[in-house]
Order: sequence, then structure tokens, then C-alpha cells
Amino acid sequence: MIRYRMLIDGQRTEAVGGGWFPVYDPSTEEIIAEAPKAGPADVDRAAKAARAAFDSGAWPQTTAQERGRLLFRLAEKIRNESAHLAELETRNTGKPIVEAEFDIADTATCFEYYGGLATKVLGHVNPVPDNALSLSLREPVGVAGQIIPWNYPLLMAAWKLAPALAAGCTCVLKPAEQTPLTALEMAGYFEEVGFPAGVVNIITGFGEEAGAPMVTHPAIDKIAFTGSAAVGKNILRNAAESIKRVTLELGGKSPNIFFADADFEAAVDGALFGVFINQGEVCSAGSRILVERPIYSKFIEALAEKSKAIRLGAPLDRETKMGPLVSKEQYERVREYQEIGKQEARLISGGGRPSSFAKGYYVEPTVFADVDNSTRIAREEVFGPVAAVIPFEGESEAIRIANDTPYGLAAAVWSRDIFRALRVVKSVRAGIVWVNHMQPTYVEAPWGGYKQSGFGRELGPWGIEEYLETKQVHINLNEQPIGWY
Ligand code: NAI
Ligand code: MG
Repeated sequence: MIRYRMLIDGQRTEAVGGGWFPVYDPSTEEIIAEAPKAGPADVDRAAKAARAAFDSGAWPQTTAQERGRLLFRLAEKIRNESAHLAELETRNTGKPIVEAEFDIADTATCFEYYGGLATKVLGHVNPVPDNALSLSLREPVGVAGQIIPWNYPLLMAAWKLAPALAAGCTCVLKPAEQTPLTALEMAGYFEEVGFPAGVVNIITGFGEEAGAPMVTHPAIDKIAFTGSAAVGKNILRNAAESIKRVTLELGGKSPNIFFADADFEAAVDGALFGVFINQGEVCSAGSRILVERPIYSKFIEALAEKSKAIRLGAPLDRETKMGPLVSKEQYERVREYQEIGKQEARLISGGGRPSSFAKGYYVEPTVFADVDNSTRIAREEVFGPVAAVIPFEGESEAIRIANDTPYGLAAAVWSRDIFRALRVVKSVRAGIVWVNHMQPTYVEAPWGGYKQSGFGRELGPWGIEEYLETKQVHINLNEQPIGWY
């Protein structure tokens, strides 16, 4: 049994309590490794190491050039190891290897992007009226506690670590308990490429035992979280005690809107890609497919036919288009939504477990038609390959349904009418809107939600902002006493 170790203060380490937890391959349901089961004492060690690396100046006082260079070196190391990392990611998540390869390439690109951005953080000269020089300095927030999910394990680690490190923050990262392996593999790269000890700490464990203590730890200044809305709310409440900075990315129930004039083939293709990529385990999944009445019946027919043809298979098989869900827990959750959907709407494809797999957390790509937007399958995030198709009549109804959700992460609109498409773009309350596409995103562009999808923006220059404080500096140029008293 391979045992991976955590990274605390530059040391590869086990948990203080000596516990380990199993890590699975969801396609075989077999244990493939063990990871240390961190608890509050480990959080304390990691937070203090990060604090010391920050307060001693070991990281924030390195030059921006040096931080940038180290991030470039890390990116290069990841590229060199990309075949190994992609395979490990696929074995641990169940996602198709071809998708994992994209994730690892994006991971390296993210570190490179912020390696470049490290030297572009600018302050301001403020145009104050008195005889003074007024400056705004940008300084790192301090110690960042970063809690991430299991759907894009290494990429999410990069989205969190890269901007924080570029800004001069030190980090305590906790991967999801389902998928700790690639982050623990990467843990070995930091020392190799030259990061000082304590700058990056990676601890593994469960939410209550290892995540929650990060949120209340006095040595941590900020919590960045991606995951469920329920845990996000809990984090926000618990962070209040120590006034931690918080950013949250909490997923959604994103509308993918199809007008009758859209290119039909591209539209059906985009609906499938929007909701089924990565087994539907995507925060921005286009899980509500809104279709205009004139094309509705033809559209659902094509969707049903094409989703039945999606090739499920072994994740390491390059022909596989959909793997198993990440865990037994997620499998059971999605299976339950398949049953809920059968009560609430009309099942037109999938709806169960594929019969061809004896083992593995596989579910069929599932499409429900004639869904009412008030039902649970239209309102609750499933986080699996389950689509809810909702008919609409005209633009204003499409916008009303699209916005009738507590979430606001993403949306897409498909139409050849640019006026209408752009009106929809402006009317939909979401942090990301695609036109005639859904899902591609780039490190250069902002990512984050409106409404209960959270707040704060990741990636691009916005991503580094979330790890910076602003300090006002007032320099008096008048040598005379104030003479007030
Ligand atoms: P979760 O929100 O429980 O887990 C995400 C991360 O938070 C993990 O690292 C976990 O250990 C940590 N965590 C859990 N409880 C915590 C606590 N009390 N304090 C601090 N950290 C804590 O998500 P879970 O249970 O894996 O999935 C449940 C649902 O959440 C999914 O079905 C999906 O709807 C949603 N989700 C959304 C994601 C997104 O990208 N926005 C990603 C993963 C899940
Ligand atoms: Mg949970």
C-alpha cells in the first residue's frame, strides 16, 4: 500500500494522531493508497509553519521576480511530470485520461500565469490635495487557508496556490479527502524547485477534522474555499469570529439557453458538453437546459439519442468519454437524484446504473424532459451527469427561468441573433456567460459567482487581488509644525 505524506514546514510528515485514511480508485472501488488523517494538531503545525514563513519575511520579502521564477520552475516541473500526474489524477477521480491531461496542462499554465503576474502588481499615487505624497501599497494578506474539492483536484490546488504565492502569501492547502493524491505528489516539488520551507503546507483529512480548524485558526488570515453551498455557509459563519477574509466558489444550477435559431447540431453538442463533461461533476455544469418551444421536441429527441451513445468506460482507456463518479457517496447522491427526477419529470434517457459494469461508481448520463423549474432536479445541484430540460416561449420567459435560482455561477445562450444573445448576456445574473459555447475558461479571465454561488473572483488579475491588502502611506512634504494647538 502506497502511503503519501503531507507537507508541513518543508518536511514530509504523517499526522500527529498517526491515523491514515484510504484513497480509492472509483472505477474499481479498490483502495490505491493511504493519506494521513490530519486533525486540529496538524492544522496547528501547518498554520504555525506558514505563519513563521510569512512573519520572518522568508516569503513576502523575497522579490517579486524571485517568486515569479519559482512559480515558473514549478510549472516546468509539472509539465515534465504531466503524464504521471494525469494518470494519478485519473486513477483517483475516475475522470477520462484525456480530460485529466487537459487539467494538468491547465495546472502548469496557471502557475506560469501567476509567475508572470507576480511582477505586475502595482501600487498607486493618490492625488491628495495637501502638500503630501500619498501612496497605496499592495501587500500580501498573510497566511491563506485553502480548502478545495475533488472534481479538479490538482487544477483547483493551482487556482488557489498560484495567485496566493505570487502575491507573497504563505499557504495551508487542504485537498478533498476523496482526492488527495496529486496534491501530495506535487508536495515533493516545492523543495526541489527551491521554495523556502513553510511557504506551502499541504495537509490531508476530512472536513470537520482538518477543514473546520483552519477556519478558526488564529494564525490564518484568509480562507479560500471551493465546494458545497452548505459548507460555504458554515465557513462564512465560523470565519466571522476572527474576521478572516473569505472567498467562496459554491457551484450552481446553471442555465444553458437554446433559441430556435441556433445552429441545431452545434446546440445539441453544446448542451451535451455543457452538462456531461467530467461526468457532470463541474461547478458550472449546464444542468438546466432551456429550449425554445419550436425546436423543443426535435432537441430532446437528439439529446436522448446522443446521450445514450456516450461511451462509458475505464478511465485510463483513451476512447472513454465518461468515467465513474468520484466516490460511493457521490454515486449514491446522484442515484437518488435520478429517482427524484423520475417522480418529478419525464425520463428520456439513462436514469440508472449502466448494466455493463460490475464494479465502479458509474451512472448513466441521464436526461429529464418537461422539467418544471420549481422541482428539486431544477433547483438543487446534482453534481453528476443529470440534465433537466425545460421548455420556454420567447426571450423574456427564458431570462425569467434562467434567473429563477438561488445560484448565479454560470450561464450560456445559443442564438444567431446577436442582439438577442447580448440582451440575454446582460440580463442573466451570473458570473460567467458564454455565447454559442459552454465551459471553456482561461486563466486570463475572471471566474466566480453571483448570488449564492459565492463571492470573490479567481484567475486573471482578479485572482491575485483576493490575496492582497491595500496600505495607505501618507508622506508629509510640509516641514512646518501643524500649529493647531
Ligand atoms: P464539501 O463542500 O463537503 O467538500 C469540499 C471541501 O470542503 C473538502 O475539502 C472538504 O473536506 C471540505 N469541508 C467539508 N466540510 C467542511 C467544514 N465543515 N469546514 C471546512 N471544510 C470542510 O463537498 P462534498 O461533500 O464533497 O460534495 C457535496 C456537494 O457539494 C456536491 O454534490 C456538489 O453539489 C457540491 N460541490 C461543489 C463543488 C464546486 O466546485 N463548487 C465542488 C465539490 C462539491
Ligand atoms: Mg461534504
